[in-house]
Amino acid sequence: MPKPLLQLALDTYDLPSALAPLQQAAPYIDVIEVGTILCLSEGMGAVRIIRSLFPDKTILADVRIAEAGGIIAKMAFEAGADWVSVVSGAAPSTAEVVHDVARQHGGEVQIELSDGWTWEQAAHWRDIGIEQAIVHRSRDAEAQGELAWGSADLDNIRRLADMGYRVTVAGGVGVNDVSTFAGIPVHIFISGRAIRNASDPAAAAADFQEAIHRNFSAQRREA
Ligand code: 5RP
Ligand code: MG
Repeated sequence: MPKPLLQLALDTYDLPSALAPLQQAAPYIDVIEVGTILCLSEGMGAVRIIRSLFPDKTILADVRIAEAGGIIAKMAFEAGADWVSVVSGAAPSTAEVVHDVARQHGGEVQIELSDGWTWEQAAHWRDIGIEQAIVHRSRDAEAQGELAWGSADLDNIRRLADMGYRVTVAGGVGVNDVSTFAGIPVHIFISGRAIRNASDPAAAAADFQEAIHRNFSAQRREA
């Protein structure tokens, strides 16, 4: 079981507000996420600029594709993304076409599992070749007070990993949440606000990496 990676989610209203914490935290970040909010506010230009500044980092464009999958995926990959996200509510044909476009660009798809997804869908996405899933705590649910990660989340991660998924955990993840997942096959921890809004984003990201090391020390890192 490889050691989890750390992904920084940049959900800001403009590019300068994303670049400031990113430049500081970058040495401790494995994957850069151009967040949904930044994609909407600045468009694929944000992906293009971040790619030019960080040519060697893995970049996820969190475009949350629900429709027009081929077009949106092509826009993101041509701007320099390595991975794009698709919502679990998208039609099977949308997930398929995005996966095809991803393959043409040497990229990958992350399926974001939101309320109502089924194991039947999860089996279908694996059948068509999708390798990554995001176990996601909704920002809106979190705002309504659903705070804790529970045993159902951990069971889902184990079962998805058994199916062959690399599983990402996202949604208000703070450094103190990392220990909850010790021994669970997490591929990536996404953190946005906990790093971006810290007074010292580099120190916050370093703390995350230290917590990952401490809780998953038996595991090797593997991109
Ligand atoms: C929100 C998202 C965010 O990118 C994700 O939740 C990570 O950010 P944060 O740690 O601030 O929640 O996709 O829907
Ligand atoms: Mg996101």
